Amino acid sequence: SGPLSVGDFAKLLRKEASEVIRKLIALGIMATINQEIDVETMSVISEEFGVPLKYEEEVDESNFDDQEEIDDPKDLVERPPVVTIMGHVDHGKTTLLDKIRQSKVTEGEAGGITQHIGAYQVEINEKKITFLDTPGHAAFTTMRARGAKVTDITILVVAADDGVMPQTIEAINHAKAAEVPIIVAVNKMDKPESNPDRVKQQLTEHGLVPEEWGGETIFVPVSALKGEGIDDLLEMVLLVSEVQELKANPSKRARGVVIEAELDKGRGAVATVLVQNGTLKVGDGVVAGNYFGKIRAMVNDRGRRVKVATPSTPVEILGLSDVPGAGDPLMVFEDEKKGRAIAEKRLFKQREEDRGANSRVTLDDLFKQI
Ligand code: GTP
Ligand code: MG
Repeated sequence: SGPLSVGDFAKLLRKEASEVIRKLIALGIMATINQEIDVETMSVISEEFGVPLKYEEEVDESNFDDQEEIDDPKDLVERPPVVTIMGHVDHGKTTLLDKIRQSKVTEGEAGGITQHIGAYQVEINEKKITFLDTPGHAAFTTMRARGAKVTDITILVVAADDGVMPQTIEAINHAKAAEVPIIVAVNKMDKPESNPDRVKQQLTEHGLVPEEWGGETIFVPVSALKGEGIDDLLEMVLLVSEVQELKANPSKRARGVVIEAELDKGRGAVATVLVQNGTLKVGDGVVAGNYFGKIRAMVNDRGRRVKVATPSTPVEILGLSDVPGAGDPLMVFEDEKKGRAIAEKRLFKQREEDRGANSRVTLDDLFKQI
């Protein structure tokens, strides 16, 4: 650990050398501009200026979780597929999502009122399907950027009257990059000017060849507006997910991902999370992004309180100390202390990053100057 001159140190802090000298004198150290001061002194001075000197420290999370990553095959059970809907502007994504939810979720529910959370489940032939009600692009980009693979299947909505458009292609690229299978919903079939063959031909040029043309891509004609073809579409989703043999281990501590989160006036930080593996329980100590919390309550996509959430289930959780970001990982900690520690470390790192490289002084920076 090498020393630095008062002058160089001042430059690093973006302060006048005279200011640094004044602080040094206040500490009883008589110094000139060319005098060298040691790291400890630098640390005290930078603290005085409100720019704490920190050792660059990587957040090492490798041994924070003592739970086995690899599941024993005998613990694995089938889990519902997680589906996102993507497609070009105005091709009918929202209408389709709404129709799927209406036709399946609100069936038989008092008043038909469904709580809006960022993800929901529907049931068809006694099998569940989880839909992420976020713009598909966000689910791919933000979450993938953080290393979270969230979706199992993409439904690509293409309006039959409009055909393949720029965002259609973008969606294909996202799904391909994430190695997520695509089911094409050829929408707006009710429109007289709809031309599904043109859609098939255009998509073939992008590597999505319909089964009836000798390819492997499933195309389902639908009218989101009229609710036609929805059941066929959902059946195809189940067919594709069966081939994927999606499994998870519900008998361990949960891991998942934050779908969306906000600060609620009455309830505090509320996060919609998707459980990806394990079972999430009320009372669990969790770290979501940079924050720790003990789950105080969980609410499912029907607005009902639940005590547990199994793999592929979306739930709202209450009890986090602050609002995590969409795409942040969620992890349950048996040891609360570890959970708190890791959240603190992450938050610290985040703050460092937010402050930006210019106002952050690290030991590394200091020694680069020498
Ligand atoms: P963005 O969120 O803006 O990208 O659009 P979107 O893909 O969610 O499309 P949205 O569901 O908002 O539908 C756009 C327009 O197309 C609306 O006016 C819908 O009523 C209409 N629309 C959606 N599906 C159908 C359909 O099957 N048939 C017809 N005729 N109109 C549809
Ligand atoms: Mg929309």
